[in-house]
Amino acid sequence: MARKESSLDRVLGRIESLDVTNLANLAQKLARERAYLETIFNTTLEGILVVDEDGVVEYANESSCRMIGFNQADVGSAVLWRLIPSLRGSLGLLDGEPLRDSIRSRELELTYPEPRYARIYILPFKEPVEEGAKQFVVMLSDITRDKISSEENLESEKIASILLLAAGVAHELGNPLNSLTIHLQLMERQLKKLEATPSTEKLADSLQISRGEVERLDGIVKNFLEAIRPQRPDLQLLNLHEVLEEVLQFVRSELTDREISVEVEVDMGTSSELPIVQADKNQLKQVFFNLIKNAMEAMQPGGSLQVKTRSDEERIFLQFGDTGSGIQQADLPRVFEPYHTTKEDGNGLGLMIVQRIMREHGGHVGIDSQPGDGTVVTLDFPKENRRIRMLEG
Ligand SMILES: Nc1ncnc2c1ncn2[C@@H]1O[C@H](COP(=O)(O)OP(=O)(O)OP(=O)(O)O)[C@@H](O)[C@H]1O
Ligand SMILES: [Mg+2]
Repeated sequence: MARKESSLDRVLGRIESLDVTNLANLAQKLARERAYLETIFNTTLEGILVVDEDGVVEYANESSCRMIGFNQADVGSAVLWRLIPSLRGSLGLLDGEPLRDSIRSRELELTYPEPRYARIYILPFKEPVEEGAKQFVVMLSDITRDKISSEENLESEKIASILLLAAGVAHELGNPLNSLTIHLQLMERQLKKLEATPSTEKLADSLQISRGEVERLDGIVKNFLEAIRPQRPDLQLLNLHEVLEEVLQFVRSELTDREISVEVEVDMGTSSELPIVQADKNQLKQVFFNLIKNAMEAMQPGGSLQVKTRSDEERIFLQFGDTGSGIQQADLPRVFEPYHTTKEDGNGLGLMIVQRIMREHGGHVGIDSQPGDGTVVTLDFPKENRRIRMLEG
């Protein structure tokens, strides 16, 4: 609990011996310092809140009030879970369950006072201000613009549809080209039956050129179709566990080599539903593979990878927990950035790809980490099974 002693600490240390004037001076000094810090907190664009382990808000800066429609008068009584309703489910906290000590990061859709996307970080205080009371800093970053621009990158989707159109046109060109070839052949045959004259020779030359050109066109069309063969996401209803099993099969020998054990646990609540989502299988495999690879790379022999499934009304959660090195608090906000890596031979692209694919599927990625003890990555997917049930019923 060692802390550097400031001049303020020294004065506070002998507070009992201060006379009225000195006390008044001290109070003024404290008020100034408080105003100074508050100005700093209110100037940042990030929302900053302090909550206790039950989520009761103890402090909120101006940006956070703006972002979640919080009223300063509610400090001390408002609960974070009520202000951001989707948060508790995404953290996996049961009713009345307190916040634990890990550092956490989640992407959320805020609906009130206006629709926005935010990434939220929850960081435990290293030294609680009050003895026994656990406190957490909650930081909110508005990522609406970021997310919209990454959706614009899905621009590629637009491009894909234009390509599809072009592919259709190219494909349609195939038929007239075929018929041109046939007719040119017929003309050639007819021409051969005629007596050779300078004009039939000229005609034969022209026909040959035409056939050559038609063949060239045919080649262009074929190459074009080959080059743009659509690679759009191929959405289908998938059981997350079946896809997970396929990826685990694929990495099984590496897991064994590294002496890492794997446990898969399903808890879909009281219902007997299957973890079914609508997704592109290859992309989903890419997500799982990247997370398992990160977990493996973070662990020593003897480590354990635990995959758990749970669900609430609207979403299915899939968690990848490892007993690896964990992520340092300072690194947490950077893990989704392209090229951010702490590994000698890392590219720093894995989690960015995971985030991109999850967003394309209407889902999110969250991270909880206990530096030194391990990391849990949580994926959440929109539920699809209701739709299926309706179709079946
Ligand atoms: N399970 C984990 N445990 C500890 N640190 C992790 C974990 N997952 C990610 N990280 C941290 O986040 C960083 C970024 O991860 P990311 O997968 O994006 O890139 P990378 O693994 O470094 O490289 P690659 O492109 O090969 O995946 C990692 O370098 C590592 O520091
Ligand atoms: Mg990686």
